Amino acid sequence: MYFCNMRIDILTVLPKLLESPFSISIMQRAQDKGHVTIQIHNIRDYSTNKHKNVDDYQYGGGAGMVMSIEPIATIIEKLKSERTYDEIIYMSPDGEVLEQGMANKMSLLKNVIILCGHYKGVDNRIREHYITKEISIGSYVLSGGELAAAVLVDSIVRLLPGVLNDETSALTDCFQDDLLAPPVYTRPSEFNGWKVPEVLLSGNDELIEKWREDQALLRTQERRPDLLKKGGEN
Ligand code: ADE
Repeated sequence: MYFCNMRIDILTVLPKLLESPFSISIMQRAQDKGHVTIQIHNIRDYSTNKHKNVDDYQYGGGAGMVMSIEPIATIIEKLKSERTYDEIIYMSPDGEVLEQGMANKMSLLKNVIILCGHYKGVDNRIREHYITKEISIGSYVLSGGELAAAVLVDSIVRLLPGVLNDETSALTDCFQDDLLAPPVYTRPSEFNGWKVPEVLLSGNDELIEKWREDQALLRTQERRPDLLKKGGEN
């Protein structure tokens, strides 16, 4: 198994919001085993303003504050002077919508910065001059980019070689081949009279594999027919 260490720097005004997602279970183990280094930077620490402000009123007027350029530019310049970054990502509802294919590609990167937006967003000059990729986790608006960043990082880190115990399990996830995953069952084989499909108890690997493929296709046809069309386009 080849070993890689990815580094992810997350820039946020709410570092506390990102503590627990990365300090439990798979995400914590991935860091402990050295597969990924996740560094969280508090943008406020880089404010030179005496009140440690990180936002300001919009030019041209209008409701809502805008994240200031200086503290964010300072951190990004500092990080860039320390290593080369493959992507500098801005989490934003108007970015490209995250899908499995994007997570797959991003799991091959070495160093990544993720900027979490707040308020009305960041001064657009940050987006124009530093950001290389803008990502949304769906067509709805969150209070900030932190939860979106946690979703993105989770989707990437679980794909790094060695992070999941059974290395094949990420490959059999939903979406990996544009199909949803088939239903799964565990003991007992009967509960309240509800039985596990007979074929899964048959011990016949070939039949079981065929059943799983059929179920995956059926589920996809019923729930996400768009995925099947997408597969046909490629
Ligand atoms: N920030 C606020 N809403 C978001 C979303 N849907 N995706 C990514 N970042 C966001």
